[in-house]
Amino acid sequence: MECIFVNGGRALNGTVAASGAKNSALAIMTATLLCGGKHRISGVPDLRDISTMKRLLEHLGVQIKGESEFELDATHIDIVDAPYELVKTMRASFLVLGPLLARFGNARVSLPGGCAIGLRPVDMHIKAFEAMGADIKIENGYVHAVCERMHGARILLDMPTVGGTENIMMAACLADGVTVIENAAREPEISDLALALRSAGARITGDGSGTITIEGVKELAPIVHTVMPDRIEAGTLLIAGAITAGDVTVDNCPVEYMGATLEKLREVGCVVDASGDSVRICSNGSLQPVEVTTSPYPGFPTDMQAQLMSLLTLAEGTSLIRETVFENRFIHVAELDRMGAHIRVERDCAIVTGVAQLEAARVMASDLRASASLILAGLAARGTTVVSRIYHLDRGYEALEKKLQHLGADIRRGQE
Ligand code: EPZ
Repeated sequence: MECIFVNGGRALNGTVAASGAKNSALAIMTATLLCGGKHRISGVPDLRDISTMKRLLEHLGVQIKGESEFELDATHIDIVDAPYELVKTMRASFLVLGPLLARFGNARVSLPGGCAIGLRPVDMHIKAFEAMGADIKIENGYVHAVCERMHGARILLDMPTVGGTENIMMAACLADGVTVIENAAREPEISDLALALRSAGARITGDGSGTITIEGVKELAPIVHTVMPDRIEAGTLLIAGAITAGDVTVDNCPVEYMGATLEKLREVGCVVDASGDSVRICSNGSLQPVEVTTSPYPGFPTDMQAQLMSLLTLAEGTSLIRETVFENRFIHVAELDRMGAHIRVERDCAIVTGVAQLEAARVMASDLRASASLILAGLAARGTTVVSRIYHLDRGYEALEKKLQHLGADIRRGQE
């Protein structure tokens, strides 16, 4: 089984660049289903989830060329059916529903099912499409949606769902009339999707605010867009510098979208200098305990929770982490405890009592960000940590171990 071996205890130093954002690239790739012609998307990271999305779009009839510069020709879509086999491996696949329904008037998409970090229903997506005129049936684990022509609607979301906002925004681009999404998600990846859609002639305003307005058009032109940098990968690399008492600079950093993460790292006691699209972090190893609550953007991102927890296992005191976005996102706690951390979970809170030193151990990744948190802990631990189930890591990090090696880490991939 492929594993990552991390020999800890080295301070990381140097400069690396962040890759394109997974959570933006995936949504923009599904948006190409909205119209025929050759779409051009650059800055696409080389990740397992991107390959899965490529396979799904090719299954639908999209012809894709290129590596990080993608040319996607969505002229000949001859299938409007997203099978369970593909959707179960990656929930973002559900984002094909809006574009297919809006362009072709019908689609059959597998329900994503549960995931390690939570139940993650898609009820708000479905409710919105029904409000836009779709007739939706759920049969045998599939969403069957039919709608001759979607129409605009006022959609008030129960909570600012990222995927829901993206799915509705894409469908509304071709709907008859105006759609207003209230309590919309404000994540930067949604603004990046809106930018890509506007490059295709979509009429979208308000992205990044809690209210998005989309005036439907008859047809769009092919998208031409460069994916924004990955703020979660950038945050992970910064914590690699902090947890090893190092001096690390991350270039191609979406600084303007990383406020909550950078502020928290300053609170922990790291020196954080942001200039242009670069962030430099230095730590002398003295880490302060903090309190943090994850919440939708611009709050502290749930996708940084596990990585910050690794850092706080070494703080001089007790930290409190409250996870409010997903109901089951503390699976990494037991693995960090195997490395000598002291963490207690009470309902949606993790109480992290700092220790002087982590010890290497064999640990198992349970999801994407948990895998990153175990590698970060391994960088600071005494001895060689072995992280298994790293297929989780490859879903969302482009050659993380190579970037860490470049910063001086003793880390390698191998068979166990
Ligand atoms: C996106 O997931 C990201 N994934 C997640 O990143 C991220 O954690 C999440 O947003 C929150 O920021 C992608 O962009 C591909 P949501 P998504 O809909 O869209 C509930 C990573 O590590 N909800 O905003 O699935 C849901 O259960 C991944 O890169 C409903 O109840 O997240 C959850 O508790 C993990 N009904 C909350 O909303 C719905 O219809 C937020 O989910 C939709 C969501």
